[in-house]
Amino acid sequence: MTTAEQPRADRTGQPEQSGAGQGRPGALGTVSGRVALVTGGTRGIGAAICHHLADGGAEVAAGYWRHHEPAEKFMAGMTAAYPGRRITVHHGNIGDADDCRRVVREVIGQHGRLDILVNNAGITIDRIVHKMTDEDWQKVIAINLSGAFFLAQAALDHMLERGTGRIINMSSAIGETGNIGQANYAASKSGLFGLTKSLAREAIFQLNRAQRPPGDGIGLTVNAVTPGYIATDMVAAIPDKVMDRIRGQIPLGRLGRPEEIARTVGFLACDESSYITGQIWAVNGGLDM
Ligand code: CAA
Repeated sequence: MTTAEQPRADRTGQPEQSGAGQGRPGALGTVSGRVALVTGGTRGIGAAICHHLADGGAEVAAGYWRHHEPAEKFMAGMTAAYPGRRITVHHGNIGDADDCRRVVREVIGQHGRLDILVNNAGITIDRIVHKMTDEDWQKVIAINLSGAFFLAQAALDHMLERGTGRIINMSSAIGETGNIGQANYAASKSGLFGLTKSLAREAIFQLNRAQRPPGDGIGLTVNAVTPGYIATDMVAAIPDKVMDRIRGQIPLGRLGRPEEIARTVGFLACDESSYITGQIWAVNGGLDM
């Protein structure tokens, strides 16, 4: 095993904040030089996360599955925006455990390491329970929940070896409240709460067991974010009459912007956020007040 990365000690003997003087001015912390895999990273919230992390100086690997054209556009835009930066895209089906493992291996092979995993990819197949088929249920669970597990499992092995890392699971406000027509999606998203907390505990347990306590360094943290209704293709597919009702339930009176989720993910991903683990971060316009 290699040694855990620890920040340098400053003159007081306290760990130096590795963000000092680095990264984007005004950023909430350091992701500069880190390698981030963002699933579903070429569109919507995932693309905003990729841009945010790249703005902070990270190398970005974006996963995608069905939509080839946006992936090509994303790649062209990113290479133009961040010349000289290593940016990659990775095709894969997160509903398939072997593909999850292959994508993580591919990212580590091409970037040399993986510091940040953002399990962002997800789907909806909305139907009332009465009409939901076996396939509707299984497909959503396989992609939204099992996929996050298989990716995290592969990433965690590598992060434990390095002694540092960040795993951020994109859950949803629906995981807390449930929703008409979303039994499969809501179950997958609340499943991510238990997954997040278990991974967070195991990461600390395994580092302690290897006699490399994570307390004073960058650490290996696992957190979840619960977006409310964000202006993406997924929300655009909601029938108008349902959307009118939903809008009326958002205290801030508008949909969220992908960038508003990205900055929370960026904050959790940075080196300085080492004391935040096993938590659920809501970004929802006050939806669950
Ligand atoms: N809240 C309140 N009422 C709802 C509702 C909801 N979420 N979903 C459906 N209804 C109501 C409809 O308004 C309708 O009521 P009325 O008859 O009084 O008008 C009734 O339920 C039946 O709805 P439909 O006529 O649409 O019935 P359907 O069988 O054709 O479709 C449905 C049912 C698939 C659930 C459809 O209504 C639908 O797609 N609803 C939207 C589900 C939704 O909110 N998805 C969120 C996607 S975004 C996301 O998931 C991202 C995230 O993390 C937040």
